[in-house]
Amino acid sequence: MKRVLSGMRPTGPLHIGHYLGALGNWVRLQEEYECFYFVADWHALSTMYDESGTLAEYTDEIVKDWLSVGLDPERSTLFLQSAVLEHAELLVLLSMITPLSWLERVPSYKEVRQQMAHKDLATYGFLGYPLLQTADIIIYRAHYVPVGIDQLPHLELAREIVRRFNFMYTGDEEGGIFPEPLELLTEAPKVPGTDGRKMSKSYDNAIYLKDSAEEVWDKLRPMITDPARVRRTDPGDPDRCPVYELHVFFTPEDHRSEVAEGCRKAGIGCIDCKKVLYAELERVLAPLRDRRDELNRKPDLVKQILTDGNDRAREEARRTMSDVRDAVKLYSS
Ligand code: TRP
Ligand code: SF4
Repeated sequence: MKRVLSGMRPTGPLHIGHYLGALGNWVRLQEEYECFYFVADWHALSTMYDESGTLAEYTDEIVKDWLSVGLDPERSTLFLQSAVLEHAELLVLLSMITPLSWLERVPSYKEVRQQMAHKDLATYGFLGYPLLQTADIIIYRAHYVPVGIDQLPHLELAREIVRRFNFMYTGDEEGGIFPEPLELLTEAPKVPGTDGRKMSKSYDNAIYLKDSAEEVWDKLRPMITDPARVRRTDPGDPDRCPVYELHVFFTPEDHRSEVAEGCRKAGIGCIDCKKVLYAELERVLAPLRDRRDELNRKPDLVKQILTDGNDRAREEARRTMSDVRDAVKLYSS
């Protein structure tokens, strides 16, 4: 079975946009691949180094999000980056052979620093972010890495590093220690938040997987609609309405076209429309909530799942590092 690896930074609770994009994809990949999924807490520190107090709680929450949507610790290895120290060892070795210019030209280096101008990201750790990511991937000799389009330059760098390492430390006839990892490009669906902008924690417009039914309705009820539909008697245009955009993801076709028709003819009001969406969303979210409640009733379960996953990941990482040390010809003591 081919191996898949991916990671998420624990920077906050996951919302339905994540579920419709990366996370749902991770769940499906379990069917076909041997999957390694990890919480990239060291990567989170690259920008959150001065607010590390939230990391432990966010880690716990994100793993609950994963388990609630059906990531299965029996089938996939779920682990914590900072618990597998071999990632750091490999990073040190890779850092010796990585030209600074390769890191400086990664587009996210400049872009993220501009986006986060309020924060001092002129750090060694932030420059090395994609190299740590390379170590994460190749230490498991992963074949495929599900990522969004923003991460493609990181995968390109990982392949360049693999070629350089294989060329430098292993003879041609040995074929190299690491396979070149390929991306599995995940389309990020355009999911609107309650204010009509892209759903995002930083806009405070997100519906979270952990939200209670009441919280979901309290967010949907005042959600932005077609701005031209002011009065109940005004006909609306679903194609200009973020509520309807959410219907497209959650409401089956026939019911959805009824809603659209009702909107265009002012046959239904926006609250009626939102009630339909709420019911459809709840069909998806209620089972996740049940699973999360179960996890919350077993206080040590998340920790136990991570401990088991860490052990499995570490075993694999150690195997690779033993080959790596031999290839680099470090003294074996
Ligand atoms: N950089 C990734 C992101 O922001 C997270 C990540 C860290 C990752 N290490 C990884 C993803 C290894 C895939 C493989 O989404
Ligand atoms: Fe949007 Fe629904 Fe209102 Fe039409 S009825 S404007 S689709 S919320």
